[in-house]
Amino acid sequence: FDVTFISPDGHATKVQVAEGQTLMQAAVHNSVPGIDADCGGSCACATCHVYVEPVWIDRLPPQQEAEKSLLQFANAVEDNSRLACQVTINESLNGLTVRVPVAQH
Ligand code: FES
Repeated sequence: FDVTFISPDGHATKVQVAEGQTLMQAAVHNSVPGIDADCGGSCACATCHVYVEPVWIDRLPPQQEAEKSLLQFANAVEDNSRLACQVTINESLNGLTVRVPVAQH
């Protein structure tokens, strides 16, 4: 599936993601800048924060409690903020586009 990361300067990076990979893994495997993912996907660091493009928000799986509580510690949180390690890619998310924050801290 295709997922696109848009960096703060507007540069778009489209990457291929296999079913079952997380959005964070897709970013790290493709060296997308700005996704630090310090904890490696354990929902413990909040440095895999991304902004989901509005059309996609309702199509993402709902936030679990762990993500909700950790997201409060991410930098510059908005209504469309998610932690990329908690979003698993499947067919319904083919074409997903997210923006990478200016900084994770
Ligand atoms: Fe650490 Fe997502 S990679 S919370």
